Amino acid sequence: MKKRSTLISGRRFLLLIVALSLIILVAVYYITDIRQTETPVYSCYLDYDSKGSKEEPQQLEDVLFADIKPTPGNSIFFLETKCNCSNHRYSILNFTAHQACAVEAAALHHSSYDVFVLFACPTIRQQNDPILDAMLSYENVQIRSVNLWRFAEGSPIEDWLKKDDLFRTEFLMINISDLLRLLTLYRYGGIYLDEDVIMFQSLEDEVPNFMGAETNTSIGNSVLGLEPDGFGHMVAELLLNDFQRNYLGNVWAHNGPKLLVRMMTRICGTNDVNAMQEDSNICHGIKVFDINAFYEINWTERSRFFHKQFADETLKRLKDSYAMHTWNHIKTNWPFRVGSSSAYMQLVAQHCPRVFAATGKYFT
Ligand SMILES: *[C@@H]1O[C@H](CO)[C@@H](O)[C@H](O)[C@H]1NC(C)=O
Ligand SMILES: *[C@@H]1O[C@H](CO)[C@@H](O)[C@H](O)[C@H]1NC(C)=O
Ligand SMILES: *[C@@H]1O[C@H](CO)[C@@H](O)[C@H](O)[C@H]1NC(C)=O
Ligand SMILES: *[C@@H]1O[C@H](CO)[C@@H](O)[C@H](O)[C@H]1NC(C)=O
Ligand SMILES: *[C@@H]1O[C@H](CO)[C@@H](O)[C@H](O)[C@H]1NC(C)=O
Repeated sequence: MKKRSTLISGRRFLLLIVALSLIILVAVYYITDIRQTETPVYSCYLDYDSKGSKEEPQQLEDVLFADIKPTPGNSIFFLETKCNCSNHRYSILNFTAHQACAVEAAALHHSSYDVFVLFACPTIRQQNDPILDAMLSYENVQIRSVNLWRFAEGSPIEDWLKKDDLFRTEFLMINISDLLRLLTLYRYGGIYLDEDVIMFQSLEDEVPNFMGAETNTSIGNSVLGLEPDGFGHMVAELLLNDFQRNYLGNVWAHNGPKLLVRMMTRICGTNDVNAMQEDSNICHGIKVFDINAFYEINWTERSRFFHKQFADETLKRLKDSYAMHTWNHIKTNWPFRVGSSSAYMQLVAQHCPRVFAATGKYFT
């Protein structure tokens, strides 16, 4: 009796094993199949090989190989890190008026600097694009592409980026902008600006190492200046190392602005952002601008840029500011009618006159 029951359970066990193996086989087949058909996210950041074909449109030049390259410490950088990943060959450069406006305002107020707009994926220009033409009518504006892997060569994150497994995760794609701004300042120094930062006045005569308080406990990373050598360069290196370490450690939400506070706390020996603003000596000369400089209108108040009933009050508050940061909010509000008297429209008319003139009835 006893022997028989062992036999049956043995057979059942065998059946179970066979069934399980089958399920696993099917699952493995599916997963590998999906892997093969689904194009990895990173592929749109790779070079596109046109194989010298004449019909293929010309891509933007790689910033590393172009004749006119950024002059270390004398350049302003904007980054476009969003790619059209459904087209594996290239993205089409299609700047909105507000993006082009940010570039123009930086170029207008910094005539001794070159302004570089770097595209993280292979990008081509459209034939007819009045907004882009207006932006490029400034002699000190250049558009270039970067290949992230080549761009990272010789930097502290070169090896880390080559570990494809890490790179293939979707997270890095989201955070590519945070990474690339640090890498750019590591390579060239100078000033980094977000695409939604409109400059009102020059930073040319300011100290080379600076950032701006966003609240009284946080520092923004939408405007950042570091010198290409010396202490500023060392800070860029520390930031890259910290980025990498915390990415690996999966400390999410830590590589944007929080990275700056963390780093400044180490450098200045205090996490008190007000104390950092008051005395840059405690921060080895890194200047922390007060909230008014770049982030006067904060996230919760952002609609004040766009509604005309707030225009007078908002313009008054921005009177001494270096820039306005519009919190990427434009997408949900646009298009704006040209001629609207919101603070935003009045300011863009003044600080990016050529792009403004190139838009039609609406400022997109
Ligand atoms: C992305 O590329 C695809 C394929 O070429 C194209 O159909 C689509 O319109 C593009 N999308 C954008 C937003 O450029
Ligand atoms: C450019 O973007 C606008 C919206 O931002 C869209 O309407 C237009 O079709 C795009 N053009 C191309 C060529 O992708
Ligand atoms: C910091 O800001 C908070 C609220 O925004 C405020 O209550 C507090 O008094 C501020 N602290 C200093 C030192 O300004
Ligand atoms: C990457 O970006 C996402 C979305 O902005 C954020 O939630 C996440 O914390 C970031 N990861 C790192 C490592 O900074
Ligand atoms: C935004 O600014 C307003 C007015 O200065 C202030 O009352 C509020 O606390 C600020 N919010 C944040 C999140 O800093």
